Parts: sequence; C-alpha cells; structure tokens
Amino acid sequence: MNCNWKIFWENFNECLHCPGVHKDLSRLVPIYGRGLMARHDDPEWARYADNDAPEFSGGLRAGAETWSRDGRVHGPVFAGLTPAERAAGQTYATSLPSMFVVGHVDYVRTVRLAPLGPEQTELTAEWLFAPDALAQTDIDNIVAFGAQVLEEDAAICEINQKGLHSIRHQAGVLMPEEYDLRRFHEWVRGRHAALQPIKTTSADSAR
Ligand SMILES: [Fe+2]
Repeated sequence: MNCNWKIFWENFNECLHCPGVHKDLSRLVPIYGRGLMARHDDPEWARYADNDAPEFSGGLRAGAETWSRDGRVHGPVFAGLTPAERAAGQTYATSLPSMFVVGHVDYVRTVRLAPLGPEQTELTAEWLFAPDALAQTDIDNIVAFGAQVLEEDAAICEINQKGLHSIRHQAGVLMPEEYDLRRFHEWVRGRHAALQPIKTTSADSAR
C-alpha cells in the first residue's frame, strides 16, 4: 500500500467509512452499514438495547455464518465453538502495531503489516484452515471476499495519504465515533515518549 502504516490502523479503528467503501461487507455485517462498529457505538443504544436484529446487535446478517462471498460456510466448522462464537461469526484480536487476527467459524485470517518506508506499507493476509478442512472447503469463495475488503481499505488509505500532502492540511479533527483512533494516537505518542534518546559518550565519538 502506498501509505504510512499508521493510516492503515486509523482506518481499521473506525467504521464511518464502511457504508460508502464496503458495500458488500455492510450487507454481511449490517451494523457496519450504519457506520457503527458495535452496539455501544449507537447514539441511540438505549432504545435498541433489547433488539437483537444484526443492524443493532452487530452480528452477521440473518442466515450468514462466516466471511465469504455468500456469507455461508463452504466446509467444516471448528468443533467446540460456543453458540455466542457461532452467532458472532467474527472475533477480532489486535496486536499493535503489526498484526490483527480474526477467528471465523470455519477458518482464521491473519493480516500483518510491515512498513517499507514513510509512505509504503507491505500488507500480508493469510487464510488458515484446519488440515481436514482444506480439501473440502471452497477457498476461493472465502478468500475473494476478504481480499476485496482489504483492497477497498487499501485504496482509501492511499487516498488519505495523498490528502495529507495537501497544502491546506494542518491537522485532522476526530469525530466522537473515532474514540478508537484517539486511543491509537495516544498509544503511538506513548511509544514515542518511551523511546530514550541514545546518549553518545566521548568513547563512542572517538571511534
Ligand atoms: Fe474498512
């Protein structure tokens, strides 16, 4: 991607872009189509607190089971999943600054980031299947969907990078829904502050 790695994470941490950028994903995960990541993001959450429809609860659309082109599983699902895990259809784990992992009911997806330069980031996505599922699964149906979402994100991240070069750009303004971006910014600032400047001794400078 022709963007800084931090732009990727900023995009990852909000769903305001979802309705416009991820049309198919927003159909699969209806709450994304409302520009929200989860139930607690809804300004009117109290009104819908007891409503388990996916546009309010955050789950996959009715009848969908996993991230694939048609929302269906195309091979065996993992044994031992709880009803809640099956209903969620996606479970995220993030390890800043380099990786996130998503567990689906039938496979695991990993996305890794490696900065190549100030405005270039290498993204590696992998789809992991249990050995016995490999032979039985329609892998193309699954990979095509996840790859499409990543490509949609990469495209807007690159536009964002270009926008930062605008002579009018000085600083952005965060929306209330971007609380996770603020958390990310604070994480970056904290890591910078933790970096101790390397002290040069007279012995070093003599070499
Ligand atoms: Fe996105």
